[in-house]
Amino acid sequence: MSNYHIKHLEEYFQVYRKSVRNPEAFWEEIAEEHFVWRKRWDNVLSWDFKKPEIKWFEGAKLNITENCLDRHLPTRGTKTAIIFEPNNPKEEAVHITYRQLHERVCRMANVFLDHGVKKGDRVCIYLPMIPELAVALLACARIGAIHSVVFAGFSSNALSTRINDSDCKMVITSDGSFRGTKSIDLKGIVDKALEECPGVENVLVVKRTGSEIYMEAGRDKWLQPLLDEAYADCVAEIMDAEDPLFILYTSGSTGTPKGMVHTTAGYMVYTAYTFKNVFQYTENDVYWCTADIGWITGHSYIVYGPLANGATTLMFEGVPSYPDYGRFWDVIQKHKVNQFYTAPTAIRALAKENLEYVEKYDLSSLKVLGSVGEPINEEAWHWYNNNVGKKNSPIVDTWWQTETGGIMITPIPYVTPTAPTYATLPFIGIQPALMDENAKEIKGNQVEGRLCIKFPWPSIARTIWGNHDRYRDTYFSAYENMYFTGDGALRDAVGYYRITGRVDDVIIVSGHNLGTAPIEDSINEHPAVAESAIVGFPHDVKGNALYGFVILKETGESRDRENLKREINQQITEHIGPIAKLDKIQFVSGLPKTRSGKIMRRILRKIASNDTSNLGDTSTLLNPEIVQEIMDNSL
Ligand code: PRX
Repeated sequence: MSNYHIKHLEEYFQVYRKSVRNPEAFWEEIAEEHFVWRKRWDNVLSWDFKKPEIKWFEGAKLNITENCLDRHLPTRGTKTAIIFEPNNPKEEAVHITYRQLHERVCRMANVFLDHGVKKGDRVCIYLPMIPELAVALLACARIGAIHSVVFAGFSSNALSTRINDSDCKMVITSDGSFRGTKSIDLKGIVDKALEECPGVENVLVVKRTGSEIYMEAGRDKWLQPLLDEAYADCVAEIMDAEDPLFILYTSGSTGTPKGMVHTTAGYMVYTAYTFKNVFQYTENDVYWCTADIGWITGHSYIVYGPLANGATTLMFEGVPSYPDYGRFWDVIQKHKVNQFYTAPTAIRALAKENLEYVEKYDLSSLKVLGSVGEPINEEAWHWYNNNVGKKNSPIVDTWWQTETGGIMITPIPYVTPTAPTYATLPFIGIQPALMDENAKEIKGNQVEGRLCIKFPWPSIARTIWGNHDRYRDTYFSAYENMYFTGDGALRDAVGYYRITGRVDDVIIVSGHNLGTAPIEDSINEHPAVAESAIVGFPHDVKGNALYGFVILKETGESRDRENLKREINQQITEHIGPIAKLDKIQFVSGLPKTRSGKIMRRILRKIASNDTSNLGDTSTLLNPEIVQEIMDNSL
């Protein structure tokens, strides 16, 4: 029996039991047999959820890029590491071998070193889905710099907030990006962001669109000439197991985005091990995850997890609708993709289109289908299963988070019987718990509660950059000795988990986490707005869409409402990005509030969802009369 590659249900149960009975011995064996270390650890695990402090493989020395690149060179040097499929299908796809990737990473790492980047420095990466993005992550890791990737759909404001929060000294970007028929001025967004970022010394620019851009003398440089001149080998910086590998920002229910910090060894071990099993990856498979590397899914399951296994991972620059709605299926046929990992929102969008878009293509290479980011509804699950998998490829509905680093609850394909809408069973080493309102664990099956994890796993985020107190308060204070996920879940009669959704004020729109507070702050900055509240409501493609209730100032009352709506959304686009735009805006004269002044979002959520039959007790409100008024005018 190989603990590294699980092939039968019985084996899953056995390995699971082992991983829970003696986690240290279990993870030690996985770490020892499947990775290269410069020095062995002194201690497998020490942890205290009260502080909270979690350390895996303490004392070990390694470099993750030696695990993702160097060690494959003798046996996989000519194997394709990355397939790059450009936005425009007429542009040729690019195959990058492990040897070429190693060289490209080394060259970029040397350029970073030449620009004064040292171990522990933060580098912000703001790039489209082009190979340089993956190379930039690995180049940082090569020299021990901490990468902070910002999704290239975020606005200049969101970018500058993130750059400043972690004091990045360098930014890697491109002149522009292609998305379907559009080309986006990324460098312009960076220039605007940097007006607020005095700490940034250098900006290295990849040429992608060839558009005219402004280059600030002394700060901005084209990357390619520097790469051409750089030495093609770069000695890997030797890192401690617990040295930070990257920071990745995620929205909280309140306040600024949280810079989740992931460290080196545990993250590597867990993402590699989950990748192998959750996708049942075998040597010559072609694996494709459609996420953007700007999100955790891309970090863990486009870059680190696949490359640590010597896999071939596909990077797609474009969008599912360009040149038409058959693009995903065209790419699968073209590259004979074996494992395909995408988001429910994409499935729902494509399911709306003519079936011919799918049926035209040969999808027989597919072996495993994945879903991530939000609950997959039954209809989308069946559409995916019937039309893409032809009932032949198990669907892995993988539940996890930016904070967890890797997949936590998921079927193992060909091992765990799947069931629509169920993420099924905890992955090896993961100990979930459901908690009730009194913070007591709910044992047994056919129960529902708040989802926590009882024991650390190797890739749990270690802190929030610059704010350890917030890390403790957010994840470890609601339930004693537990990591609280912020999600609700139920456990059915056979012990399968179904994630029921967020229990806080985070709303997942098209698979993107959005906190209500920053959006409300942005709206409230509009000169005509006095106050606002945002809630989610069900949307058949996005999963949830945003509904804003807005109180105008007296001076705003005379303004044209349609213009105001446009301005509000424009403001949100500038502050956060287009993903946070509101689908519906209702102007109201007040918001339902508790006597302590808290907005009763529960009531607003019901109104936004057209589910007003049972609003619950409204008598304790400060202003119960407002509820009827809002209901009468709801959209
Ligand atoms: O609510 C859960 C939902 O996405 C949240 C995490 O979002 P993020 O940190 O952006 O990471 C997304 C990619 C890992 C979770 O708290 N979520 C994620 N996967 C699922 C899910 N909800 C239901 N089912 C899933 N498979």
